[in-house]
Amino acid sequence: MNILQNKIVIAIDGFSSCGKSTFAKKIARKYSYTYVDSGAMYRAVTLSCIRHNIIDNGTVDLVKLNGILNNIDIDFEYDNKGNQITKLNGENVENEIRSITVSSRVSIISSIGSVREKLVKLQQGFGVKKGIVMDGRDIGTAVFPDAKLKIFMTADPKVRAKRRYDELIAKGDNVNYDDIEENIISRDHLDQTRDISPLAKADDAITLDNTYMLPEDQVIWLEEIINKL
Ligand code: DC
Repeated sequence: MNILQNKIVIAIDGFSSCGKSTFAKKIARKYSYTYVDSGAMYRAVTLSCIRHNIIDNGTVDLVKLNGILNNIDIDFEYDNKGNQITKLNGENVENEIRSITVSSRVSIISSIGSVREKLVKLQQGFGVKKGIVMDGRDIGTAVFPDAKLKIFMTADPKVRAKRRYDELIAKGDNVNYDDIEENIISRDHLDQTRDISPLAKADDAITLDNTYMLPEDQVIWLEEIINKL
């Protein structure tokens, strides 16, 4: 018997592109939990802002943003392999929200209080079901401060950039490694320094540095941790 058999909430936070979703999905599959990618929700709001043309040179039209937030519906579906598909007002936007255009604007949108308020409420709603593993930046600190298991993930920025680059190239995107590394470093900075719910390790979170670890090693690491809890 380990604590995951009680269908708890598992909070995974950490830096951009350090494999949080790969790790969270593996846990979800192994322990029959539901995976929720909170970053996808910030990306979906960002996509909607881009489509409504309300971001101009780093400035956001807050009145129009509130209109968007009042009418936005973000939900997830899961394919037969358990992969999450993000739906923005019913439309499958899973691929579009991963584009570099969205990635380069998501930090601005996710630093806005009204956006965070709306999405944190939605995320807490997913937690009512229990048996969920959610990844993001403030899951252990703001969304589920009482989560029974909190993991804080980190890895060397260059290793993270290379992983992200390989992922996008494999998808057929025409991307440049230096742009990706620059985007990761700039997002790390913005995520850690924003005023509301900055990226931070919760006091009771366990750190996982996976710079030199394969995804399988991380699952073994987790098993060792939960067997001791
Ligand atoms: O995990 P990701 O890279 O897909 O997240 C996209 C952005 O959303 C990231 O730059 C920070 C933001 N984010 C956040 O502020 N809070 C979360 N819980 C999840 C993501």
